[in-house]
Amino acid sequence: MSFKSNAGRIGVWGASGSGKSSWVKQQIASRSRLVVFDPLGEYDARQLATVDQVRAEMRRNFRRFRLSLVARTGGEAKALHVLCRLLMAAQEPYRKTGKGDGLCLVVEEMNLSFPVAGGVQKCQGFAEICSRGRHYGIEVFGVSQRIAEVDTRFRGNCTETVVFRQKGARDRQAAAAELGVSVNELPSENLSYAHEKAGLITKGKVTFSKRAANTNRPPAANTNSAPKKRKKRA
Ligand SMILES: Nc1ncnc2c1ncn2[C@@H]1O[C@H](COP(=O)(O)OP(=O)(O)O)[C@@H](O)[C@H]1O
Ligand SMILES: [Mg+2]
Repeated sequence: MSFKSNAGRIGVWGASGSGKSSWVKQQIASRSRLVVFDPLGEYDARQLATVDQVRAEMRRNFRRFRLSLVARTGGEAKALHVLCRLLMAAQEPYRKTGKGDGLCLVVEEMNLSFPVAGGVQKCQGFAEICSRGRHYGIEVFGVSQRIAEVDTRFRGNCTETVVFRQKGARDRQAAAAELGVSVNELPSENLSYAHEKAGLITKGKVTFSKRAANTNRPPAANTNSAPKKRKKRA
């Protein structure tokens, strides 16, 4: 028997620098079983280079893992395919019994691994998660700049769509069609978004806490010792 969870598939679209990754990072902050397919290596998770390393880390602590797979450039589709097969195998008991914890998969730069030209053939594992991930309790965030560059298998199975600033007229039209709104309702500023879920559109803006901003600061020049106090002048 197979059970359906509430695990959604969320498509996140927008021009470079528009706020996609920042939004996703905030959504997944509290996920305890997380794997990010992260070609740019930009997530705060344990970075790994191979699916075998991901498997080993999951086996080490199956209740809690926050991992990122930074695949070799050019090998994204194959790597995501193999990763998805691993995640489905890991969640097979969930599929059979409906018991156990869910899992969150983030696919960044999705046009590289699941392109509109033959994504399903190149990356069958992810195609299967798009169609049947819910039965396995696998939630998916798929992130890409342009809607038109990603295979329709993902887009057609999305339960939520989040649109950030789009770059050109064509992308704006595609995004408006995906959301079911008119082009002039799309966000035009970085960090602003329109979010569609079950036909309902909400608008929002990504904000950063001071603490999050601080994590982007470079370290001090000398971190070996505590800062010295200035001597008082006599
Ligand atoms: N912690 C942070 N504090 C302040 N600004 C941030 C922080 N992280 C990202 N930004 C800014 O948010 C904007 C969107 O970045 P990002 O989410 O990476 O865009 P995208 O993924 O759409 O390319 C960028 O201008 C970036 O400099
Ligand atoms: Mg990004």
